[in-house]
Amino acid sequence: MAPSLILPHGGKLINKYIEKNYDDLKTFEVSSDIRNDAENIATGVFSPLEGFMIQEDFLNVLKEGRLSNSIPWTIPIVLDTEKEIAKQMKELRVVVLCSGGEKFGIMNVEEIYGYEKENVANAVYGTTDVNHPGVNRLFKMKEFLVGGGVEIFHLKKNEIQKFRMHPSETRSEIVGRGWKTVVGFQTRNVPHVAHEMLQKAALNLYDGLFVNPLIGKKKIGDFTDSLIINAYESLIMNYFPKNRVLFSTTHTTMRYAGPREAIHHAIMRKNFGCTHFIVGRDHAGVGNYYPPFAAQEIFNEYPDLDIIPVIFPSFYFCKKCISYANDKTCPHGVESKEELSGTMIRQMVNSGKIPEKHLMRPEISELILKSEKPFVVE
Ligand code: ADX
Repeated sequence: MAPSLILPHGGKLINKYIEKNYDDLKTFEVSSDIRNDAENIATGVFSPLEGFMIQEDFLNVLKEGRLSNSIPWTIPIVLDTEKEIAKQMKELRVVVLCSGGEKFGIMNVEEIYGYEKENVANAVYGTTDVNHPGVNRLFKMKEFLVGGGVEIFHLKKNEIQKFRMHPSETRSEIVGRGWKTVVGFQTRNVPHVAHEMLQKAALNLYDGLFVNPLIGKKKIGDFTDSLIINAYESLIMNYFPKNRVLFSTTHTTMRYAGPREAIHHAIMRKNFGCTHFIVGRDHAGVGNYYPPFAAQEIFNEYPDLDIIPVIFPSFYFCKKCISYANDKTCPHGVESKEELSGTMIRQMVNSGKIPEKHLMRPEISELILKSEKPFVVE
């Protein structure tokens, strides 16, 4: 590894990819979301995790926002199941995991444990309100957690994974491009021009931009994964210098945990090789659960994170400045501000009325209009 590359979180990139198959072991079915996270563990996206969390780490993450060895970690990475199944897994110790009938990995079960959902909700999401999509999902989880190491022998391959890269691959790409500084951009949206301006503001300062949409379970009403990917392909092709952008996707569940998830997002991008990470307004937020800049402030509690947050105020188009602006650069009042709203997007989908091109690039509007399924429906 080149000396200039940022070290993975915890110091070493985890690699739990194995060639062997274990036909003689009992198989347990898990969801495709759990499979994604098992693969994230095995390919080093979640370094330094080597498995689904054991209770000590789980409780420490809730209480301190750190693993039990005090390495920053804010989101529980767990495998949930029914008590009876958890017991069977514990008795067998080494089991095969499968998803949709496809065997993909081995788990070395260390322990099984129960947990208090309210505690988790309060610690991770700051609320127990079931209208919060992350809390809602948490309350539907099974009663027991199974902790222990995972190894993967079969990685998912399907159309939605076509831009997926593993940390070892993004790291060698970064070295190959000679980038010393790389700024990561997390998104769960199709890009509008405010997103693009945020990315370009950062690109003024760093060697490369790592555009990394989060692909995986999202809430009803969010854009679908395939539309997000198509939209970014088009945006980068039409509006970015190719040699300054690396595009790949991260496959995990969107948690909507605001500040805590911002730290988690930064850790994953550090593992991909980013030195910097963009945190704008209401990063990973939903509704009004988090103050707009709480996801920036939480980085003050993690001086040992290594990856540096690049924080931005709220970007909007200012009719008087005739450019994208923010409260730090623009003196004009609300009457001059223009922002793309959810209502404008719904109007576009319902009546074909596309937003003005300084709010959304026409290529992107067209893709949304053409999409058979622009939004997540279940
Ligand atoms: S997120 O859930 O992934 O954070 P989204 O894809 O909308 O949602 O945002 C991606 C990144 O852009 C986040 O860092 C977010 O804070 C930032 N962002 C989005 N819109 C704006 C805006 N108008 N001004 C400043 N930052 C923004």
